[in-house]
Amino acid sequence: MGSTHIPFLDLVSPHLEMEEELVTVFRTALRTAAFIGGKAVQDFENAFAEFCEVNHCVGVGSGTDALRFSLIAAGVSPGDGVLTVPNTFMATTEAISQAGAQPEFVDIDERTYNMDPEKLYEFLETKCDPDQFTGRPVSRRTGRMITAVVPVHLYGQTVDMDRILELAEAWKLIVVEDACQAHGAEYFSRKAQCWKRSGSMGKVAAFSFYPGKNLGACGEAGAVTTNDPDLAQRIRMLRDHGQAEKYYHDIEGYNGRLDAIQAGILRLKLDHLSAWNHQRREKAETYQELLRSVDGVTLPTEPSWARAVYHLYVVRIQDRHGMQESLKAAGIGTGIHYPIPLHLQKAYGTLGYHQGDFPVTERVAAEILSLPMYPQLTPADQETVVERVKDCSAAVSSISARLARQESIA
Ligand SMILES: Cc1ncc(COP(=O)(O)O)c(C=O)c1O
Repeated sequence: MGSTHIPFLDLVSPHLEMEEELVTVFRTALRTAAFIGGKAVQDFENAFAEFCEVNHCVGVGSGTDALRFSLIAAGVSPGDGVLTVPNTFMATTEAISQAGAQPEFVDIDERTYNMDPEKLYEFLETKCDPDQFTGRPVSRRTGRMITAVVPVHLYGQTVDMDRILELAEAWKLIVVEDACQAHGAEYFSRKAQCWKRSGSMGKVAAFSFYPGKNLGACGEAGAVTTNDPDLAQRIRMLRDHGQAEKYYHDIEGYNGRLDAIQAGILRLKLDHLSAWNHQRREKAETYQELLRSVDGVTLPTEPSWARAVYHLYVVRIQDRHGMQESLKAAGIGTGIHYPIPLHLQKAYGTLGYHQGDFPVTERVAAEILSLPMYPQLTPADQETVVERVKDCSAAVSSISARLARQESIA
């Protein structure tokens, strides 16, 4: 037991398996000096657009760039409000603020941990008034006109999008998908009666290729997907100092291009993504079977309309801290995504939110624990993880039973 080492994430094995191919990308870049833009970027963009079942993909520097550029290019303006959830990574709201808007939150669904469409409905109906000229919602809390909503497909599972899209249409909201954790995740649209890929459902979507993602670069990278050719063109300009033609700057932009070496690496890895996602789904099924009967552990829910790609495998445990410590002592790595809801982060003290404002997110944040999950995780490793989880949960149950007995005697 002392020698167990099961990392939370294994970024070494997949790169060793592909080492020769990956080195070729670097060698080609060195020999052609094609470091920025060019064929490697274009090839990856075409292939990723096809993978996401959209017409356009624009490679950018990171997922945060992808979100920021998407919001700006889709028409979010300084002074606007943008809706999202407090259970996400900070980059979602950073991008909103950096587009000049202010994030406003709606709570999540306790089963999926993603934006609850009914809470969005309730927010729009009871906490907003329609603007008399545009029909868009004006938040009574902030007085800001809300122009966009950012559903986040967290942990690799899509948001229940039909209702979100319907509400967005009714209230004239731009839908920007944060698909940074959901490469290849699918959603069954009851309205369209077909499966759709994450990144193909909103006006525009943002992906991150941070190394630990299901499709990860060997450095920073991201991409925007959309079916709107004008929007794609605006993103191309935003990523490259506002120029469509060298030194003709129609707007002010950013330095947010996708590096050609990263694009070459991503193109090679993209060929493996479906198989890797399939392996992640198999690991999730194994966890689900092995952990089903363990007391005090709530497993992830995958509704019939979702095909999740398990970027993370997140369970809920009341004594999350105790469980994490005992797994650590047993040589098993875990993570918490995310321990502090965004509305309670120090950086957002000025937004005026308080503890209790988003009770589901707050409850969930106190109990979630991400177990090891990656395509190379072996069945034996999974069994070891589950055995340790069972030991810890049994220990907690016996302590609780003892405390209950003592209370009843007293
Ligand atoms: C949900 C979510 N949004 C946005 C981002 C930002 O992506 P990046 O780190 O590539 O800027 C991430 C990355 O961790 C993410 O998980």
